[in-house]
Amino acid sequence: MAPASSPLPISSESDEKYANVKWEELGFALTPTDYMYVAKCKEGESFSQGKIVPYGDISISPCSPILNYGQGLFEGLKAYRTEDDRIRIFRPDQNALRMLTGAERLCMTPPSLDQFVEAVKQTVLANKKWVPPPGKGTLYIRPLLIGSGASLGVAPAPETTFLVYASPVGGYHKVSSGLNLKVDHKHHRAHSGGTGGVKSCTNYSPVVKLLLEAKSSGFSDILFLDAATGRNIEELSACNIFIVKGNIVSTPPTSGTILPGVTRKSISELARDIGYQVQERDVSVDELLEAEEVFGTGTAVVVTAVETVTFHDKKVKYRTGEAALSTKLRSMLTNIQMGIVEDKKGWMVEI
Ligand code: COI
Repeated sequence: MAPASSPLPISSESDEKYANVKWEELGFALTPTDYMYVAKCKEGESFSQGKIVPYGDISISPCSPILNYGQGLFEGLKAYRTEDDRIRIFRPDQNALRMLTGAERLCMTPPSLDQFVEAVKQTVLANKKWVPPPGKGTLYIRPLLIGSGASLGVAPAPETTFLVYASPVGGYHKVSSGLNLKVDHKHHRAHSGGTGGVKSCTNYSPVVKLLLEAKSSGFSDILFLDAATGRNIEELSACNIFIVKGNIVSTPPTSGTILPGVTRKSISELARDIGYQVQERDVSVDELLEAEEVFGTGTAVVVTAVETVTFHDKKVKYRTGEAALSTKLRSMLTNIQMGIVEDKKGWMVEI
């Protein structure tokens, strides 16, 4: 397999340590950076060497499978700057593996695991000055795998584009103590045999209308129930969910309708490390309403406490703040990511 790396563009700008960004004001919105990575391959071939090119619009056929049929996958991961100025990426191999699984489901050609990781490293390196100062945010990295080329019929893409871009970000949700969730009992995010278990672009746009409606009623996010029974909790609009009762931390299983989150997996491991029993199993909405604590996990949301859940006309309030397990798990995770504690797990990849 050809290496993914390509010579980095040299510019006088890259001599500056930091880009001109108001780091304190970062939310989860695009701040365009300087460069992106692009590789293309024809159907039946594998990706050859990609290129770091200036960040900008791309040209694509109006007849491309991504535009016509939503044939595309995306990933999300982050790079962190440590106090001693190292830049490290959190578990990129896990995102690479997930893209591989998704590509298999959508009949697409994926980059190899090595190429994915190398492309992410190259993108971060080229945009080094956009990695926020320690504690001021992260560089969010967005790898895309899209059906490009032209195909009028429903068929594998004649060409696939693998692209990686990045943006500095702050927090995903603007909430102080925790999310106020609305349980959606009318719509479902995923169904058995569908694409809920892979990071297909098509999993996200159907959620937007529901999210806006929920927000207009004062909620911060939606919690979806499973399509098969309408009794078990699945996911929020953009992250996984956990409940806590006593010493038991439970999260729905990744059996095809739930995204196998990298943060979900890491938080399960950290919770076990500090003596909690972590169960991956069906969690009913009744159990949710009886939990002591609820929290969401994801690359964008990190670990975010849920303050209230509303199901029909019932509203339940949960533990949040210093006493909450989610607060402890969040700092265990971010301390590793930011280099405040030693990464004994080998999760961080230096660029
Ligand atoms: C992430 O956490 O990286 C995600 O993919 C969520 C995204 C839909 C904002």
